[in-house]
Amino acid sequence: MTNVVVIGSQWGDEGKGKIVDWLSERADIVVRFQGGHNAGHTLVIDGTSYKLSLLPSGVVRPGKMAVIGNGVVVDPHALCAEIDRLAAQGVTVTPENLRIADNATLILSLHRELDGIREDAAGKSNGGVKIGTTRRGIGPAYEDKVGRRAIRVMDLADLETLSAKVDRLLTHHNALRRGLGEAEVSHETIMQELTSVSDRVLPFRDTVWLMLDKERRRGARILFEGAQGSLLDIDHGTYPFVTSSNTVAGQAAAGSGMGPGALGYVLGITKAYTTRVGEGPFPTELTDEIGQFLGERGREFGTVTGRKRRCGWFDAALVRQSVATNGITGIALTKLDVLDGLDELKICVGYTLDGEEIDHLPASQGQQARVVAKYITLEGWKESTVGARKWADLPAQAIKYVRQVEELIGAPVALLSTSPERDDTILVTDPFED
Ligand code: GDP
Ligand code: IMO
Ligand code: MG
Repeated sequence: MTNVVVIGSQWGDEGKGKIVDWLSERADIVVRFQGGHNAGHTLVIDGTSYKLSLLPSGVVRPGKMAVIGNGVVVDPHALCAEIDRLAAQGVTVTPENLRIADNATLILSLHRELDGIREDAAGKSNGGVKIGTTRRGIGPAYEDKVGRRAIRVMDLADLETLSAKVDRLLTHHNALRRGLGEAEVSHETIMQELTSVSDRVLPFRDTVWLMLDKERRRGARILFEGAQGSLLDIDHGTYPFVTSSNTVAGQAAAGSGMGPGALGYVLGITKAYTTRVGEGPFPTELTDEIGQFLGERGREFGTVTGRKRRCGWFDAALVRQSVATNGITGIALTKLDVLDGLDELKICVGYTLDGEEIDHLPASQGQQARVVAKYITLEGWKESTVGARKWADLPAQAIKYVRQVEELIGAPVALLSTSPERDDTILVTDPFED
C-alpha cells in the first residue's frame, strides 16, 4: 500500500481531474500541492459535470478529506465562489472535508490586475513575450512569495501584523504600477478585500504538514493532485511559456510539507495525443483538418478561459522526458477514444535540430522553436472505443497504439480512459497497491 502522486505529463488538461476523481475512491485524503485556480479539472459523474479549479477533485466524494497545501496560491474570493458553485450542485464543503495550509500564499486583486496588464502590454513592455496566461494572478503571486512579501492564509487571523504586511507589499506594487503608468492601490482597498473574506476562509485553516504526518502514520492513503503539466513546469517546461510553479512530482513533497519518501507511486496522466493552451513551442502541432478533428472530437476548449486548445500528434519524446523528470511509475492514458476513425496515426519519436537528430527537447527557447518532429506512422482503427471498460473491448490496432506508446516513453499504462465519465476507465495496475 502506498500513496499516489498524479501529475500531468504534457502541457496540462490531460484528464487529471477525471483520474483523480476515479482514484479518490481508494484514497482517504486528496492534496493539491501547487498552482491555483489557473487549473481547470472536469469530472463527469453519471452525466453531471463538475468543474474544479482550486479545490482538490476528491471534494466531490463524501467522506474524503480535501487539502490545499502550502505550495498552492489561493485567491480567497475565487475559493468562496467555487465553494458556492459546488454547493449549488449539492456538494457540501466545510472544515470537516476541506483544510487549507495556514502557510499558503494568497492571490490578491492586484496580482490578477498585474497579470492582465502584462499580458495586454506583451510585445511592448514585456520584451515582446506574450505568455497567454490564464490572467488569474498566479505568476505575480508566486513572485511575491519568492520575494518574501506575500500575504499568507494565517495573516488573515492577525489584523495588526496584516496591516504592516500590506504596507510592505504595496511599497513594491505601487512602485511597479507607477512604472507601468497604472493607478496606485490604496492600503484600505487591500485591507477591505482581505477582511471581507477572512471569516469564511479562516475556519479551513490548518497546520497541514502536521495533519498529514499524523494521517500518514495512522496508515491513511494520500492522493496528491497535480495541476498543469510537466512541460509547463517553471524549471523543466518550455520556458518562458510556462506557469510559475514546479509542476513535477517532486513538488508534491515540498508543496504539502511531507518528505519525498512518503510520495510513492507517480502516475503521469497522458493524453493519447497532445494539446496546449496559450503561446509557446509545440513541435507536433497540427493546424490542418486533423488538428481541427481532434479539437472538435476531444472538445478541446479550456475550462478556465474558454480558449481553444491547440492540438497535435502524440509526442513520445516529450512524455519520455516527463517520465524522467517526474520519476513516473506508470501512466493513465486518456482520450484514446478521440483517435477513433482516423486512417493513420503519427507518433513523434524525436526531433531534428538544424539537421541533427536529437531525442529530447533542448532547454533553449530558440532551439525549441526550431526543432522539427520525426514521426512513425501507425494504422488507425475504425471501431469505437468510447466507453470501453475492458481491455478485451479495444480493437487490435488501438492496443497496438497503446503498446507503441508504452515502449517509446518507457513506462507502462496503469489506467486507460475512454470517455469523460468516471467509470469509463480500464484498470490495469492499481497504483495504490503497486
Ligand atoms: P485536467 O486539467 O488534466 O483535469 O483536464 P481537463 O478536465 O481540463 O480536460 C480534460 C477534458 O477531457 C475534460 O473535459 C474531461 O471530461 C475530458 N476527458 C477526460 N478523460 C477523457 C477520455 O478518456 N475521453 C474523452 N473523450 N474525454 C475525456
Ligand atoms: P490544468 O490543471 C493547461 C497555461 C496557460 C499559459 C501558461 C501560464 O487544467 O491542466 P498561468 O496563468 O499559469 O500563469 O499561465 O500556463 N496553463 C495551463 N494550460 N492546463 C492548465 O491547468 C493550465 N494552467 C496554466 O494557458 O500558457
Ligand atoms: Mg484543465
